[in-house]
Amino acid sequence: MEKLPQPVRDPKNLYTKIFINNEFVDSVSGRTFPTINPATGKKICDIAEGDKEDIDKAVAAAKEAFKLGSPWRRMDASQRGRLLYKLGDLMERDGALIASLISLEMGKPFLQAYAENMWAAGILRYYAGLADKIGGKTIPIDGDLFCFTRHEPVGVCGQIIPWNYPSAMFVWKVAPALACGCTTIIKPAEQTPLCALILAALCKEAGIPPGVVNVVPGYGPTAGGALTNHPDVDKVAFTGSTEVGKIILQASGASNIKRTSLELGGKSPCVIMDDADLDEAITFAHNGVMVNAGQCCIAGSRTFVHEKIYDEFVARSRDMAEKRNLLTGDPFNPDTKQGPQVDEEQYKRILELIEAGKTEGAKVECGGGSVGGEGFFIKPTVFSGVTDNMRIAREEIFGPVQQILKFKTLDEVIERANATMYGLGAAIFTKNIDNAMMFTQGVRAGTVWVNLYDVVHPQAPFGGFKMSGIGRELGEYGISAYQEVKSVIMKIPQKNS
Ligand code: NAI
Ligand code: MG
Repeated sequence: MEKLPQPVRDPKNLYTKIFINNEFVDSVSGRTFPTINPATGKKICDIAEGDKEDIDKAVAAAKEAFKLGSPWRRMDASQRGRLLYKLGDLMERDGALIASLISLEMGKPFLQAYAENMWAAGILRYYAGLADKIGGKTIPIDGDLFCFTRHEPVGVCGQIIPWNYPSAMFVWKVAPALACGCTTIIKPAEQTPLCALILAALCKEAGIPPGVVNVVPGYGPTAGGALTNHPDVDKVAFTGSTEVGKIILQASGASNIKRTSLELGGKSPCVIMDDADLDEAITFAHNGVMVNAGQCCIAGSRTFVHEKIYDEFVARSRDMAEKRNLLTGDPFNPDTKQGPQVDEEQYKRILELIEAGKTEGAKVECGGGSVGGEGFFIKPTVFSGVTDNMRIAREEIFGPVQQILKFKTLDEVIERANATMYGLGAAIFTKNIDNAMMFTQGVRAGTVWVNLYDVVHPQAPFGGFKMSGIGRELGEYGISAYQEVKSVIMKIPQKNS
């Protein structure tokens, strides 16, 4: 048997400072903020708190590194690819430590954090390979003219990431930006600075030149706001709440029309037809909403079940959630399936929504509240009898809470699935190809799964319809957010006859 990776429970020599120009520095103000272990509620350590002045420094570094003639701009695309491969190798080398930091500061069970980081390394390799395959077109235009396009890097990128996949979100943003030749300033979530800072150190070790990747930890409205309003930032990429997505889009417009890509919230429908393989459907639907303690933008948080199989589906989903409850606890225990929620704010919001579900008349099949004791643990919860107008059926919960709704026909369920401001993911379980085709065509979502859930691969584009976002990440589509297309039109001299 392959040896399991071993966690580092008490990591030493953590990176806690701001990373600019390949150096770790204190904040200009000298201020720090604490990063908290959500399994205990206790402080892990203090982190340098970035604010406007630090963002100004980081942007200046990224701008300098992007100048024409700089080592980064002169570097062959194939060499940029080699640096990204190297970074992927280093992330694998330090996988146990990176995963331990993720477990420590966001509460993800260690083996899941380890897997997340390996997956992130795979995304780096995808973009490493793509770096020297980014070309333009030659276009036949009218007249004695020659037209070709250059796909140029968009420039200095501000990238604001959330805490739910600290390693993968870093890579989702940095890999396509670097593959295209951009420079970047990353503002990690205030809950998970340690992971971003160790990845910054690995960027340096990989040989990425100074100023190309900068990491400024700090809070959203301050450090994040300074980045999104900065006149020298050409592009902003954001993953997080729809609420903040709106603020960012406004800041992009009000400052300098930054190119803006957004990956926001969801309320994704998971539809189970009466001819589905029930064992598979129940497991995928359960994992699809419970994974990462429900802290997943693509969580299948509306499970629509055909009326003929509804009661059995509910009973078996409850059993599954009860088993999961027994495996909820210490993220460093190898048997743990579910850790705590990331922080007290998320924890309280989820509990409030669970109460709203009860008040509005949904039935708690299991769970229904906090685990109790220290840390921000919530019991895996299953609600039956959920109707479309309840808050738990409309709002993103971002917690281990499954809503099971009943339907009769495919047409009806497609309409109900679409009756949301979101459009990130959707799934259907059926053995009938016509049902599957009708659903994949009718549902308005950026990713649609048939007979599975939550499969996200480096090669396949990912993103949202409607208020789930703008643009696509991953795959070849993912690089278009980091490019400007330049048309070059040249006169072709003609022979006088
Ligand atoms: P958030 O959207 O407030 O935070 C995400 C990132 O944006 C963090 O780095 C944060 O510091 C930054 N930020 C916050 N306010 C900002 C501002 N005014 N300007 C620039 N950057 C700003 O999300 P939060 O508070 O962590 O969670 C709230 C809800 O958002 C969750 O309950 C969940 O519904 C949703 N969410 C969705 C995620 C996704 O993967 N799409 C990830 C995290 C949260
Ligand atoms: Mg917030």
